[in-house]
Amino acid sequence: MTALAKPESKKRRILVTSALPYANGPLHLGHMLEHIQTDIWVRYQKARGHECHYVCADDTHGTAIMLKAEQQGVSSEELIAQVHKDHSRDFNDFLISHDNYYSTHSEENKDYSEKIYTELYDKGFIAEREITQAFDPEKQLFLADRYIKGTCPKCKAPDQYGDNCEVCGATYAPVDLIDPFSTISGAKPIDKQSVHYFFKLPEFKAFLTQWLSNENLQASVANKLGEWLEAGLQEWDISRDAPYFGFEIPNAPGKFFYVWLDAPIGYMASFKNYCDTANLNFDDFWDSAQAEKQGTELYHFIGKDIINFHGLFWPAMLHACELRLPNAIYAHGFVMINGEKMSKSRGTFIMARTYLEHFQPEYLRYFFASKLGNGIDDIDLNLEDFVQKVNSDLVGKLVNIASRCAGFITKRFDNTLAAELPNPELQQDLIAESENIGNAYESREFAKATRLIMALADRINQYIDEQEPWVVAKQEGREAELQGICTQGICAFATLITYLKPILPELAVKAETFLNANLDWTHLEESLCGTTINKFKPLLSRIENDGVNKMLDAGKPKEASKPAKKKKTSAPKKDSDDKTIAPEIEFDDFAKVDLRIALIAKAEHVDGADKLLKLTLDLGEEQRTVFSGIKDAYSPEDLEGKLTIMVANLQPRKMRFGMSEGMVLAAGPGGKDIYLLEPHAGAIPGMRVK
Ligand code: 2FM
Ligand code: ZN
Repeated sequence: MTALAKPESKKRRILVTSALPYANGPLHLGHMLEHIQTDIWVRYQKARGHECHYVCADDTHGTAIMLKAEQQGVSSEELIAQVHKDHSRDFNDFLISHDNYYSTHSEENKDYSEKIYTELYDKGFIAEREITQAFDPEKQLFLADRYIKGTCPKCKAPDQYGDNCEVCGATYAPVDLIDPFSTISGAKPIDKQSVHYFFKLPEFKAFLTQWLSNENLQASVANKLGEWLEAGLQEWDISRDAPYFGFEIPNAPGKFFYVWLDAPIGYMASFKNYCDTANLNFDDFWDSAQAEKQGTELYHFIGKDIINFHGLFWPAMLHACELRLPNAIYAHGFVMINGEKMSKSRGTFIMARTYLEHFQPEYLRYFFASKLGNGIDDIDLNLEDFVQKVNSDLVGKLVNIASRCAGFITKRFDNTLAAELPNPELQQDLIAESENIGNAYESREFAKATRLIMALADRINQYIDEQEPWVVAKQEGREAELQGICTQGICAFATLITYLKPILPELAVKAETFLNANLDWTHLEESLCGTTINKFKPLLSRIENDGVNKMLDAGKPKEASKPAKKKKTSAPKKDSDDKTIAPEIEFDDFAKVDLRIALIAKAEHVDGADKLLKLTLDLGEEQRTVFSGIKDAYSPEDLEGKLTIMVANLQPRKMRFGMSEGMVLAAGPGGKDIYLLEPHAGAIPGMRVK
């Protein structure tokens, strides 16, 4: 484990990262575990007076993001801009103190990705060869395994993914699937050749063997990486063919960096962007020689599912380019809810925002802290345990100390604390725990830190129970005693809040206001005796059990509450001519669709949208606004005055540019080849089509 540098004696210069969340969807509690863990560690380092910088970014490239944007009728840039806003807001509301939250789709990242690639290329670490891959002939896209489905060659279960069968557990290659189809278009994939670029990882075997002996890696992580190393390293495919949302590879038109190539470089890019405003020297933290000279430190916090990228590929790339290596990679386990994997149907796939709509962020920060060790065990968010722990520790033990003592100080002593403590040894005992608690934070044993702090809270509550200030208050001539007991309680409370500040930063601010004091770890020894406090206001409220149920209900898919219907497979099927057909629907389903003739009264460009046109459709009796992704195929002036067919009873959908109140019918593969359906002459706006 990390040698514990004596924090008091030497000011450390530390750079910390959390893994970059994908920009293809909202953050969930799995993300929050990682960012809360990192944030607590960072806040602890800052509290000890170290220079500590915490950077992160959205991971914005790849096919998934490109397809998602297409689905939403927006450009990839528009999608990632919106997601960046949403992610930033969620992190902010969870009190995550990134010094910079950037994007991998940035100039800095393009620049470093190109530089690193070019250096690898020039040093002979890039191989180039043709490979054969599955290709979607309709969508004109190479297909990763997860975009291919078909019938399992072993048990014949339909609708199985390209690499393994969820029914019988068989593993196979996508080419083995019976009747394979692209999950994007439904077309049958064909084999197609293309040139790819590879990073020659096997050349780094000796270096990686040595790197794995780095005592800062967690033992379980080092063992796993060691197994991969022993099994033999493969060259790593770092290129993808167009169309791909990412950075084009220098001197390789139509080839793009695979998202995992530029994602970790995003750590550097985010830091570079931050350096420019924070007046820091980038090379102090990233140039191998300079970082060593300066003694700067670098730590990556990640989930245990991505240790190969961070523990093998990334250090090999850094080493090849004479960039500094991380001092450690700290992996954590997954979040489980009530002992099981997060599940959408049970409502336990809890989004960060859903949580925030029901509870304060610090409850979860404290709960995760109380469960986190420095290993890779999964963390179970048992929701009963969550309610119990927060109520008992934070409300019942911690805040209770202040609420038991503050009233007397306010009412009987004009808000003034006693000049001396009746039991200074007790307060000294609390301060003496700072080393143990600090070490627990430093080594990411937050569960231990909270246990130590709560044990101190128990001691203080016991002291108050024994001293019975409420009895003393009723007896004449014991004023000084009463003031002393309550001052002892308040000073202890201040110390405990100081210890908990990395976990509960907002509560700490409220406590500081209440106590008129800065509760800094570096000033633990400073006494509050003789100072005045403010009127105590409740600092935290108890969690009610029904909040948990409400949160789970909010996370459940809407259909879950309806009676179960026979479910049809959602994947496209093929007819005998092998053309894609949609899944079968019942006549009643079809009868529900209200198709109408619509006159395109107006067609306009949409500011900031790459693919959308805004159509004003005249249905005779009413007008509708519809956004349609047909801009590549039609200019607005081609459309105005034409008749088309629309779905008139589609639920209005809120899009970024406004409400879309229906959908126009079109046919074709997409892009320029898309044709709006036109009815025969003689049709009248508003006329029903079937
Ligand atoms: O697994 C993930 O969610 C990735 N987006 C993490 C990237 S971390 C870093 F390498 F950029
Ligand atoms: Zn099977």
